[in-house]
Amino acid sequence: MFIDRVEELTKLKEGLKRRENFIIIAPRRYGKTTLIRKVLEELQKEGVYALYIDLMPYADSMSALSKYIVDEALDLLGIEGKIKKLSHLLQIRGKAVLKEEGIELNFELFKGTDEREMLREALELPERIGSRKRKRVVVAFDEFGEIYKTNPKAVKLFRSVIQHHECTSYVFAGSQETIMKKVFMDKDGVFFRFGTVIELKGLDFKDTLEYVLNNLSVPAEEFVELFNLLKGHPYYIARIIDKLKSGKDVMSALQELTEEENAYVELLIERARSIKHALEILRALARGKNPYEALDIKDQIISRTLNTLVNYGYLRKISRGVYEFTDPLLEIYLGER
Ligand SMILES: Nc1ncnc2c1ncn2[C@@H]1O[C@H](COP(=O)(O)OP(=O)(O)OP(=O)(O)O)[C@@H](O)[C@H]1O
Ligand SMILES: [Mg+2]
Repeated sequence: MFIDRVEELTKLKEGLKRRENFIIIAPRRYGKTTLIRKVLEELQKEGVYALYIDLMPYADSMSALSKYIVDEALDLLGIEGKIKKLSHLLQIRGKAVLKEEGIELNFELFKGTDEREMLREALELPERIGSRKRKRVVVAFDEFGEIYKTNPKAVKLFRSVIQHHECTSYVFAGSQETIMKKVFMDKDGVFFRFGTVIELKGLDFKDTLEYVLNNLSVPAEEFVELFNLLKGHPYYIARIIDKLKSGKDVMSALQELTEEENAYVELLIERARSIKHALEILRALARGKNPYEALDIKDQIISRTLNTLVNYGYLRKISRGVYEFTDPLLEIYLGER
């Protein structure tokens, strides 16, 4: 199931083919990964070499990350087997194929301990493959914020390597809005002006409704109400649609969803408890109040806490002084009690 994101999909596909780079920023569960995978899948059908690299599991080990990138890149050439079996596989078949293809790769590096050189070599490989095969290459790095958190120096290395690339375009996605903006939008950021920033919002109302009307037989008005209640939250809407597809009615779908997500919402609340004043501020917002007026807390502290809540992904800053919950179920929960 893939709903909406029509505009983003076109923009990404067309741009990537023209060798533009993109940065996708959105809170958790807003559909970054889903969108990236869809774009890559479609580009692949058009003959582009597409690589999807999830950085999350590798954020604290540059050597593991490097080997993983090499693995994925070698897959493009149909070289199977994983670099874990480095000495065995790559020395025999990998080396032979690469040699035949005329693509350079310093295998010895991956047996050594110089993690920076390893990462450099790994990041060069997709470009070398594209250049040799005269193919356009797209590499998407998902969860890029993770690298910045654990190894900011690696971020610089990424930039210094890939900025010279001519066949490869890049997508960077991340959910830590503050980190992503610092890296990609701040004029002192390592990747300032590196690419077009796409901030994913909730699903588009019209496109989602159209999908529902075409695929399900539920009363439109009821679905509209539900969509508004969940503010188009991609994950929740997708879950609801799944339930509707299995024959449930709108009310029981919503009820089931809230029950199933209750533990998650409580976890969010538990985490917020560790930030001083956060819950009071979130509650005020959930009840449509202005925390600066409604609470007896110094303005400066409110402002600082709001920033922290944006950093933690609870809120999204819409404009000066205007904040929105990223999770509609949390907002409903806090608004009620
Ligand atoms: N465009 C879409 N069409 C249909 N379902 C979607 C769409 N976007 C998101 N979803 C649903 O929401 C879920 C979460 O989306 P996804 O994993 O892509 O979000 P994410 O932004 O990558 O989240 P995270 O930051 O947690 O990795 C998906 O498993 C899918 O069910
Ligand atoms: Mg994701």
